[in-house]
Amino acid sequence: MISPLALRATLRPDATRISAIVRAHADAARLAEDAGFDAVELHFGHNYLISAFLSPLLNHRRDAYGGDLACRARLAREVAEAVRGAVGGRLAVTAKLNMTDGVPGGLSPDDALRTARWLEADGTLDALELTAGSSLLNPMFLFRGTPPRREFAAAFPSPALRAGLRAAGPVFLREYPYRPTYLLALARRFRAALSMPLILLGGIAERAAVDRAMAEGFEFTIYTRTRCPVPGARGELTLRRCRAPRSPRNPRVPR
Ligand SMILES: Cc1cc2nc3c(=O)[nH]c(=O)nc-3n(C[C@H](O)[C@H](O)[C@H](O)COP(=O)(O)O)c2cc1C
Repeated sequence: MISPLALRATLRPDATRISAIVRAHADAARLAEDAGFDAVELHFGHNYLISAFLSPLLNHRRDAYGGDLACRARLAREVAEAVRGAVGGRLAVTAKLNMTDGVPGGLSPDDALRTARWLEADGTLDALELTAGSSLLNPMFLFRGTPPRREFAAAFPSPALRAGLRAAGPVFLREYPYRPTYLLALARRFRAALSMPLILLGGIAERAAVDRAMAEGFEFTIYTRTRCPVPGARGELTLRRCRAPRSPRNPRVPR
């Protein structure tokens, strides 16, 4: 089959290959530990591999890894368990989970919340980072704001692909308004239902947004866009708030 993300032919992974994928995550976590990192984050969002398994729109399997949510969530839970077994207790293990794929037929908030509850019950994660959207089908649902349509198309080497992306821009890169803490309304449902540490992201660009997240019970915040630095908060705020929850090993992060 053709992978729309990789734009090339790819194989449907069988059970042996899936076991290898799970092991590869554990191996990568061990490598991160050897290299001196303090935390690893598993990507369960944006319709990348594990998020694609979670999505009823993208996962058409009829085996133990497809069909109902319990089967679609199996890979996420196995990967978290394997990584916990590899580095848990020494490195913080977090996962970035979609609260919704933001596309019709994709992972819904209800199913994402059920998945989050299973992950919490498994005890394999130190914290869950709440995200949304699909790099494949609806990227601006994650970013919000004015879509960089021309810049995005210009980044592709093939003239035909560039022209196609320019034409498809309004559909592929849809516009959603940017607001401070734009994922908070959805994340509140997860905060109310879960007791594990949660990480809020999306439009955290000012100190007030961090304070709001803390006041609403989120243990950590993430901010990414370098064009939106947090005034007066460089370093100190990031490190204090993002310190690994259950990893006292790291002497380099100020407490
Ligand atoms: C330049 C850039 C690169 C990013 N790369 C990744 C990535 O590799 N993986 C990922 O999960 N999110 C990535 N993101 C998304 C951010 O992690 C974050 O989820 C998103 O930007 C929303 O947070 P913000 O409002 O603080 O920017 C990237 C964002 C930016 C701006």
